[in-house]
Amino acid sequence: MEFTKTRQPLRGEITIPGDKSISHRAVMFGAISDGTTEITNFLQGADCLSTISCFRKMGIEIENTPDRILVHGKGLHGLKAPEEILDAGNSGTTTRLISGILAGQNFSCELTGDASIQKRPMKRIITPLSMMDASIESIRGNDCAPLRIHGHRLHAIHYLSPVASAQVKSCVLLAGLYGDGKTSVTEPALSRNHTEIMLRSFGASLSSSKTTVSILPEPKLTGQKIQVPGDISSAAYFIAAGLIVPGSEILIKNTGINPTRDGILRVCSAMSADITRLNERTSGGEPVADLLVRYTPSLKGCVIEGDIIPSLIDEIPVIAVLAAYADGTTIIRDAQELKVKESNRLDIMVHHLSAMGADITGTDDGMIIHGGKSLKGAILDSFLDHRIAMSFAIASLAAEGATSITNAECVNISYPEFYEDLRRLTSCAAQH
Ligand code: S3P
Repeated sequence: MEFTKTRQPLRGEITIPGDKSISHRAVMFGAISDGTTEITNFLQGADCLSTISCFRKMGIEIENTPDRILVHGKGLHGLKAPEEILDAGNSGTTTRLISGILAGQNFSCELTGDASIQKRPMKRIITPLSMMDASIESIRGNDCAPLRIHGHRLHAIHYLSPVASAQVKSCVLLAGLYGDGKTSVTEPALSRNHTEIMLRSFGASLSSSKTTVSILPEPKLTGQKIQVPGDISSAAYFIAAGLIVPGSEILIKNTGINPTRDGILRVCSAMSADITRLNERTSGGEPVADLLVRYTPSLKGCVIEGDIIPSLIDEIPVIAVLAAYADGTTIIRDAQELKVKESNRLDIMVHHLSAMGADITGTDDGMIIHGGKSLKGAILDSFLDHRIAMSFAIASLAAEGATSITNAECVNISYPEFYEDLRRLTSCAAQH
C-alpha cells in the first residue's frame, strides 16, 4: 500500500485507539491470573494480536469480540507447553515481556518474530534472566530471537539495568513473580510504569521508589476489568498535525497522560504549542485527558535530553517533524535507543527529513534540526516501521507538493485506522 497526501487542514474530534503497552499487559497479566479479565478499548493492532496468539498457543482461551476481550486466566502455573513456535510478529513488547513469564514455567519453548524482531537486541533480557538462573539462549548465538527458553523456578535478584527500558524492567518483574524472594530492578531513568500500576491492581506485591521497583513472588493474581486509555503515542501524530497545519483545530479525546509517557506534551509546551488539557480523569488506574490542539504558527525549537527521553522515546520521530516546522534549533540527545527500535529510527528520520529539504544532522545519540525551512514532498519508504510511516504522513500535510510513502500499511502494527482518521479530520475541514 502507498499513502499519498490528503487535503488539509485538520478539524474536528478524534478518539484515539487503545494504548498498545497497556493492551499487551492486560492480556498477559490476565492469562496468568485466576479468573476472567475483561478488557475494553483494547488495541486491535497487529502487535497486540500477536500477544493474544502466543497465549492461545499456551492453552489460554481468549474471546475477542468488537466491544471487549475476555481472557480466561489459568493462574501463574496454568500455561501449557505450546506445540508450535511462539511468534511475536513485529512486537518487542510481546517478545521481551513474555520471556519473563516463560522463564518461570515448567516447560520449554521457542519464541521468534519477524525479520525486524530477529535483529533487535535480546541480550538485555538474556542477561538478567540468566542471573535469575533461567535457561534462555539465542538459537543463532547472535543475542537476538529466535530464543529457546527452558522454564523453571527462578532465583530473585536486584538487577541494575544499563538501559531505561520498560520492556526489560517488566521482563524481570514478571520473572520475579516466579522467584524465590524479592526481585528488584533499578534503571538509569524512570521508564513507563504501566506494569507496576496494572500488576498491583491484579494483586501483586510491588513497591517502587524513584527508579527502583521490587516485587514479591505471588501465590496468585486475580483477573480484573481493565479499561484501556487512548494511546498518547498514537495521539502524537494528530497533536503534531494540529500544530503544524495552518487552520487546524482538533479535540483529541481520551488520551492517556501518564507522567512516564507525557514527554511529548512537555516538549510541546517548551515549543510554545497551543494545547489545552481538558476533562482530566482516571481510566483503568491511568490518568487520561482530552487534548485541544490548535495550529501554532510560531513553534520554537528546544533541547530534549536526559531523563525525559524514556517518556517520549516512541514520539521522537514525530517530534523531529515538529522541530523541522519550528523556528530555531532543536537538539535531541541521549536517544541512542532509537537505533534499535522497529527500524533504525535515527538514521531514517535524518535521511527522510533531509529528502524533504529539512536542515537536519544525525549525531551519535540524537539529531540537530535547524527548523523553519519550507519542506517539499518526496517519495519515502516506511522501512516497515509504523512510526516512520505515520510521522511522514504528518510531515507531508504541511509540505509543498506530493509525498508518497511506500509500505504504508505497516500502521496496522499500532494504529490500523490511522489513514481513515486522518482522512476524516481533513474532510471535516473541507466541509467547514
Ligand atoms: C514499551 C516500551 C518501550 C517502547 C515500546 C513499548 C512497552 O520500549 O519503545 O514501544 O510496552 O513496555 P523499551 O522498553 O525498549 O524502551
